[in-house]
Amino acid sequence: MKKGRVSKSRIAIYPGSFDPLTNGHVDVIQRALEIFDEVIVAILRNPGKKHLFSIEERLEMIQKSFNGNDALKVDAFDGLLVDYARMKHAVAIIRGMRAISDFENEFQMALMNRKLHKDVQSVFLMTGLRWIFTSSSIIKEAAQFGANVSDMVPEPVNLKLIEKFPLIKDHTDPR
Ligand code: PNS
Repeated sequence: MKKGRVSKSRIAIYPGSFDPLTNGHVDVIQRALEIFDEVIVAILRNPGKKHLFSIEERLEMIQKSFNGNDALKVDAFDGLLVDYARMKHAVAIIRGMRAISDFENEFQMALMNRKLHKDVQSVFLMTGLRWIFTSSSIIKEAAQFGANVSDMVPEPVNLKLIEKFPLIKDHTDPR
């Protein structure tokens, strides 16, 4: 650390829709917690987009999945991500990187965020190989037709999916 610089906690924002939280998100959050003092999972309030779970349900599922970890906060935000990051005194925006197909969109978003707020850094974390093909949308797609996705989402999310989609009958992994 530079001489004279006051030590302060390094806060990172992990923004997204989290509709719902997946094990891929959990993996990214755990990696971010190893780097930053505090990680804020920030759910975008986006009235223009149709979601399966309400903001309140998503907040609750994430809170339950990380119960007891004081370095992890969960919140919702409106408007520009960089304004929210400024308000929270965050030094970084975390995004998970899966396959190369994520790159172009993420690159564009990071450049826009840098243009809007040059003091916040975009940090890309690679998900574990197991989760490369896991996404909220594919999980919802499979679950609505009754697929068992219990090994792809945290337990509190699996329970909510079962509640939403009664077609999911087999709650145990046969392997
Ligand atoms: O989980 P998602 O849907 O990929 O997350 C996208 C999100 C919420 C990170 C992005 O849409 C966002 O930051 N929206 C807030 C509006 C904003 O700041 N837009 C300018 C950056 S391109």
